[in-house]
Amino acid sequence: MSDIEAPGDTERLTEAVLGQVQGDSARVNQLLSALIRHLHAFVRETRPTPQEWRYGLDFLVRTGDFCTPERHEFILLSDLAGLSALVDALSNTGPDSMTPTTVEGPFHTPAPPRELGAIIATGAEWDRGDWTVLHGQVRDCDGVPVPGAQIDVWQSDDHGFYDVQDDAQDTGNLRGLLTADADGRYWVRTVKPSSYPVPVDGTGGELLRAMNRHPMRPAHIHAQVTAPGFRPTTTHLFVAGDQYLGSDAAWGVRDGLVVEFTRNPEGADIKRFDVPGPFFDVNFDFFLVPEG
Ligand code: BEZ
Ligand code: FE
Repeated sequence: MSDIEAPGDTERLTEAVLGQVQGDSARVNQLLSALIRHLHAFVRETRPTPQEWRYGLDFLVRTGDFCTPERHEFILLSDLAGLSALVDALSNTGPDSMTPTTVEGPFHTPAPPRELGAIIATGAEWDRGDWTVLHGQVRDCDGVPVPGAQIDVWQSDDHGFYDVQDDAQDTGNLRGLLTADADGRYWVRTVKPSSYPVPVDGTGGELLRAMNRHPMRPAHIHAQVTAPGFRPTTTHLFVAGDQYLGSDAAWGVRDGLVVEFTRNPEGADIKRFDVPGPFFDVNFDFFLVPEG
């Protein structure tokens, strides 16, 4: 006899499926059971037609078709639906003094190691002139410097493109893996990033259009800071004043991550940092949370 004989028996179907979740790991069972419960509840609430359900399944297939080693369309969907921000916020709690974390996004690739002070803008963007000096210190949440911390930075150029999206940029452009000095201090020379649209030619774009949302992210520099004994900190430095800070397509903006890019016209500092002319001075300290 079938498990469901009438529409009213659909609760028995859900219970029957849940009863078959008997894996070896309690955590896997918890995750799978909750997923099945919530998906069944979604179907009960929205009553998709078979055509609509098939459309949803095909949407996932098309999402997979857009994935390449350089592009992860599922991460983009998770970002645009606010799910990455939710997972991050619930996973990375800590003292008030910690640097807030935020979404990693789909454009993180292994960065070339660079000397402190290196110019990571090695393409035409450097000559276009939005020179920026980013500097600061890595500390623990009590303010004690963390010597030798690693700071992985990546960003788009002043036109809003990452190296992986732009044939005109060399691989590794606007990326760098820095090692802080014995006082936890770091510095790097780059260009000011611009706001940019997330890729909209895939299913991420379909989702945005269905929601009637714009695809823009406020200008930012990504950073991932690691040090032995500390929880990795994946975050952004957002450019203060950006018009999209209040409507980030990826829901990544958090208090404490909006940073002044202060125009520095001082001749002495131009010499000190060895930049070609007036530049944006960005001072940002990272506060790490001990592991465990
Ligand atoms: C990014 O900042 O690289 C990004 C984050 C979320 C979605 C798309 C791009
Ligand atoms: Fe980004």
